[in-house]
Amino acid sequence: MSNGFASAADRREFIAGLPKAELHLHIEGSLEPELMFALAERNGVAIPFSSVEEVRAAYAFSNLQDFLDIYYQGMAVLLTENDFYDLTMAYLARVHADAVRHVEIFFDPQGHTERGVAFATVIGGITRALDAAQAQWGMSSRLIMCFLRHLSEAEAEATLDQALPHLERIHGVGLDSSENGHPPAKFARVFARARSLGLKLVAHAGEEGPPAYVYEALDVLGVDRIDHGNRSLEDPALVARLAASGMTLTVCPLSNLKLCVVDDLHAHPLKTMLDAGLAATVNSDDPAYFGGYVNANFIGVADALDLSREELLALARNSFTGSFLPDNEQGAHLAAIDAWNRAHP
Ligand code: HPA
Ligand code: ZN
Repeated sequence: MSNGFASAADRREFIAGLPKAELHLHIEGSLEPELMFALAERNGVAIPFSSVEEVRAAYAFSNLQDFLDIYYQGMAVLLTENDFYDLTMAYLARVHADAVRHVEIFFDPQGHTERGVAFATVIGGITRALDAAQAQWGMSSRLIMCFLRHLSEAEAEATLDQALPHLERIHGVGLDSSENGHPPAKFARVFARARSLGLKLVAHAGEEGPPAYVYEALDVLGVDRIDHGNRSLEDPALVARLAASGMTLTVCPLSNLKLCVVDDLHAHPLKTMLDAGLAATVNSDDPAYFGGYVNANFIGVADALDLSREELLALARNSFTGSFLPDNEQGAHLAAIDAWNRAHP
């Protein structure tokens, strides 16, 4: 095949072992229905479903808000430090099997503190799992704290205050939840304070929102990465700017399909992004809700768009060069990608 593989099966095998980083993952979105039931029972929390099948059947979304309503409801079973450890460990073990060598994961503290769960409980459980993955598999990680953009900037400021004792474990801040009507500029001051604290900055922009939100994320917030960014393609000047600056986009194909950002994976803009010189990466966003972890995202979009060996290598390389790892660690991962490629001619 002209794509550099003998068959689609050969390409899937190549993807399966290709070293990669995941840069766009909401840890609460990795809560599988089975674990949701187990935690509900362990904690004596009532959930409005009677079976795992019923939960999965409820995962039919027509837009971002549809999903978010169920996503916040699912979090109700997360109460203790062990719950956050079990949640995070399950995700890390799952992606270890997908040849993920490094993760940069989001968490939504406001989804927990507003239910009476202490900030320290959340971060304690998550970081204990991240440390275990580093010790067991040499998997590195960074933690990014997201502000819920449907809430006020004052509430984001209060969340940043709560994070101050934990900044050794928090590498950056992000912006998620309902995009339309909540532009990045709403959070200009809290992002400026996060920057002054030495934190990296990322924001969801251009998932459902217009190109103007991507400009705001760049110009008002000064982000280091754009999460999603799909709608940037509507503005050629923006595309040229993102390409020239090497700005990483954390693209999430199965999420885009499930939230109706695209009608079909055949219509997914990932290949267009790569052709335009954009530093796109492939990620799972909320894998328990969107039907697949990172390799399923790679395979889905590779099959639908007939991605070539060179395109898959570029996506894997972008995942490390777009990460917050130091250059020497990025270099070691890039060498591992080359070694995998050479071993699979
Ligand atoms: N978009 C916005 N907010 C989110 C998402 C998403 O895909 N997942 C979890 N919070
Ligand atoms: Zn997301």
